[in-house]
Amino acid sequence: MCSASATAPAADRAGTPEYLSGFGNHFATEALPGALPEGRNSPQRCPYGLYAEQLSGTAFTAPRHANRRSWLYRIRPAAVHGPFEPLAHPGLVGHFADCAAAPDPLRWSALPVPREPTDFIDGLLSVGGSGSSDAHSGCAIHWYRANRSMHDRFFYDADGELLIVPERGRLRLMSEFGRLDLQPQDIAVVPRGVRVRVELLDAEARGYLCENYGAPFKLPDLGPIGANGLANPRDFLTPVAWYEEREGPMELVAKFGGALFRATLDHSPLDVVAWHGNYAPYKYDLRRFNTVGSVSYDHPDPSIFLVLHSVSDTPGVDAVDFVIFPPRWLVMQDTFRPPWFHRNIASEFMGLVHGRYDAKASGFEPGGASLHNCMSGHGPDAETFERASRADTSVPQHIEETMAFMFETRTLIRPTPQALALPQLQRDYAGCWQGLGKRFDPQARAPR
Ligand SMILES: [Fe+2]
Repeated sequence: MCSASATAPAADRAGTPEYLSGFGNHFATEALPGALPEGRNSPQRCPYGLYAEQLSGTAFTAPRHANRRSWLYRIRPAAVHGPFEPLAHPGLVGHFADCAAAPDPLRWSALPVPREPTDFIDGLLSVGGSGSSDAHSGCAIHWYRANRSMHDRFFYDADGELLIVPERGRLRLMSEFGRLDLQPQDIAVVPRGVRVRVELLDAEARGYLCENYGAPFKLPDLGPIGANGLANPRDFLTPVAWYEEREGPMELVAKFGGALFRATLDHSPLDVVAWHGNYAPYKYDLRRFNTVGSVSYDHPDPSIFLVLHSVSDTPGVDAVDFVIFPPRWLVMQDTFRPPWFHRNIASEFMGLVHGRYDAKASGFEPGGASLHNCMSGHGPDAETFERASRADTSVPQHIEETMAFMFETRTLIRPTPQALALPQLQRDYAGCWQGLGKRFDPQARAPR
C-alpha cells in the first residue's frame, strides 16, 4: 500500500474529470479552498457549514495495511433521505444457493442493448454468483446494458464493491468522491457503499460487473517478480473532490441483503465538497498492464496475469481474482503456446472486451462470456489445438488486438435461471472440443 498523500487543486467542475495517482493512497482533496478541516477530522464546526462523515470500508481495528476509510465533508449527511421500500428487478439475482448448477461448460453470445429506455441499474442481468452477501463472502457477476444516463437517480451497493469492466460505450461515473471517465479496456472499482450516478458518454453502454462481497480488491504481492511489474500502482487513478448542489425529487437505490430498495430524497447525495482517506473509487487502464511470461519453454500459470484480488482468510487462496489476457509476445520454443487443457479447483468466468481470444478460434465474441466451473475440463478448441500443434515455435508470435479477462473464484459460480434461459446461451458450446479425436499410437513414440 502506498503511503504518499496529495492535495489536489479544486476540480474543474464543468470539464474533464481530474485524478490523483496511486493505489490505496491516503489522498486529500477539496473542491473549495479550505473545505478540508486542518489538524483534525471532526472539528466542532466544519468550514462552509459542511457536515463531517466517516465512511469505513473495513473494521475499525483492521491492520493498518488493510484499513480503509475516508472522511467526507458534505452539504448534508448521508442519512438524510426517506424510508426505503423494496424495488423489484426481474434481471437481478442476489442469492445463489438455490440456483441449479451443472458441471457443463457454458458460453453466451453478447446480449443486445435493450431498445426501451434503460439506465445502468435497469439493464443489469445477473449471470451467476457464489457465497453470501450477508456473510460478506463470495461474489455476484452481472452484465450491464444501458442506453440512457441516470439523472435524478443514485445507487449504492451495501453488499459489495463493484468492479466495472466496460466492453462497449464510454461511461462517466459521478460519485460522492468525484467523477471518473471510463472507456472500454478501462476498469473502475466503486467501494462498497459509495453512491454513484452512471452517465453514458455514448448512445449505448455494455459491459460486465463483478460484485465482490468479500475483502476489498488489492494489488497482489509480486514475489520473485520483484518490485515492479503487472499492474503498477501509479497507474490507478482516483477522482479529485467534486460536488453538485442540486435539489428536487430524486431517488436513491440501494442493493442490500441481495435485493434492491428505493428511497426518495430531495437533493443530490453527490454533495461531498472535500474528502480525505484511502477508501475511494478508482480506475485503471488495462493497456498499462506490464505483462510477464516465459522466455524459455512452457508458460507460467495464469496467476501472472493477476490485476487485482480479493483475499480470503486462507493465505494464497483468493476469494476473487481479476485476471486479464492482454496483447503479448509468445516466444517459448517447443511449447504448446495457447493455454493448456486444464481442470482447476477454481471456477472461471471469462469475458472479452476487445478483439479475439487466442484460445478460441470462434464463438467467443466481445460482450460474450464463458463459465467453466470447478474441475470442469476445458482448454483450446479443436481448431486452435491443430494450429498451435503445428506452429513454428522458432519464431515469436505476437498476440494483438485482444483483451480478455476472468473473474476467478475459489467457490462454484452458480448460473442464474435468467442466464440459463437466454437465447444467447450457446447450447452446442461443448462441441468445440468434440473434434479432438484420438491421436494415440503405441507404435509411434516420436511426436507427430
Ligand atoms: Fe481455464
